[in-house]
Amino acid sequence: MNLWLELLLPFVLFIFAGPTIHQQLQELGGLDNITATPPGWPVSDDTVMHIATGEALASGKTDKEAMLLEIAAKYKECMKDMEGRKPGPTSILGTDLLQPDKPGGYIIPFNPTGTGCGAAMRSMCIGLRYSTPEDLDDLIMYSIESGRMTHNHPTGYLGSLASALFTSYAAQLKP
Ligand SMILES: *[C@@H]1O[C@H](CO)[C@@H](O)[C@H](O)[C@H]1NC(C)=O
Repeated sequence: MNLWLELLLPFVLFIFAGPTIHQQLQELGGLDNITATPPGWPVSDDTVMHIATGEALASGKTDKEAMLLEIAAKYKECMKDMEGRKPGPTSILGTDLLQPDKPGGYIIPFNPTGTGCGAAMRSMCIGLRYSTPEDLDDLIMYSIESGRMTHNHPTGYLGSLASALFTSYAAQLKP
């Protein structure tokens, strides 16, 4: 990996102009010339949090409160693996406030300045776990509750619901 690439990569996430992104991709030799492996291509903060959601769902907890506290614990734990990934302020603040050792510790105070899409970026696996029409109530509950563990503004946690719901629709082969 050359130095130029190493310096550039942390900033690619924050380029908002599509043509600029496409131009940079061409300069790297196009999509076929990229092998997305660490250390040059580390997974993002959102992927780390998505894995945390998946690990919690796979924990075998059946009680709802226990599952929500497990998700909270995984979110808190995964923030130790954010070196160089630039997690957003809402995720940093939210996970800091979670108290997975206490009853109800997955609920944080409302954040009037919350921003960001982090809740929507980590809930697709909820749509895989609760993928049938009969699972819909659980899908809604877990996507919203896990979303608002950090992003408790409606446009934050409803994004989490949308990601999970449309993943379940894909699993159901809905056209
Ligand atoms: C493909 O990527 C390598 C670095 O991984 C680079 O040295 C090479 O110049 C690239 N190829 C093209 C056609 O740009």
